[in-house]
Amino acid sequence: MSAIRPYRPSDREAVDEICVRTGASGTDATGLYSDDSLLPDIFAEPYLAYQPELAFVVDTGDHVAGYVIGVSDTAAFADWYKREWRAGFAERHPLDTAATDAERELIRYGLSYGDRLVPELGDYPAHLHIDLLPELQGQGFGRRLIRRLLAELEERGVSAVHLGVSATNTSARAFYNRLGFHELPSSTPEGPSLGIATDALI
Ligand SMILES: CC(C)(COP(=O)(O)OP(=O)(O)OC[C@H]1O[C@@H](n2cnc3c(N)ncnc32)[C@H](O)[C@@H]1OP(=O)(O)O)[C@@H](O)C(=O)NCCC(=O)NCCS
Repeated sequence: MSAIRPYRPSDREAVDEICVRTGASGTDATGLYSDDSLLPDIFAEPYLAYQPELAFVVDTGDHVAGYVIGVSDTAAFADWYKREWRAGFAERHPLDTAATDAERELIRYGLSYGDRLVPELGDYPAHLHIDLLPELQGQGFGRRLIRRLLAELEERGVSAVHLGVSATNTSARAFYNRLGFHELPSSTPEGPSLGIATDALI
């Protein structure tokens, strides 16, 4: 029976793999970039290193097949990222090794993360990422994972959370809409950003 539980350090590789297998606007990004570690090195690993207590996984009893990860204070996380993560990231993913424009853009994103944050941070200080393998999608785990993270954030006194979603990921967008996320004022069609209060009934 699949169940949601807190992240453990031994889940790290599974989380990385899920990040890759859902990393192309919700579909499999395996082999898309020169190095499959590029996506998790931006969208999973720093979160697990910084605030692992805000990571939750879905354990099928056999393996981990989904997760939600978040940070409660994006501005503090961004400062930490710049101080502690960027140099190692730059060494692991030299810009001049990028094989495609898309890869170059992604490495640039990893190199500059934290320089430009959403202007609504004061009202939506936390942010999150959620990914489930196809075998687990459409069974209510996404809603339950978000619910779990919102409850944890609310307990920490955080009033609202934001997230970015790829403009081409229409399926995730429908999911967020269904849960009651709304567009932030700074959201654009090319770079949608959404938010929700942590006490929202989802
Ligand atoms: C997007 C994702 C997190 C949603 O999780 P999920 O477990 O599949 O969604 P749930 O089963 O919890 O759905 C919750 C609600 O959203 C609705 N919903 C989910 N996907 C939907 C879709 N594509 N279109 C319309 N409604 C959708 C469900 O019908 C459900 O509504 P209901 O409870 O009223 O019946 C998951 O499918 C996923 O990880 N996809 C691949 C990776 C990804 O895109 N991540 C997000 C990156 S920003």
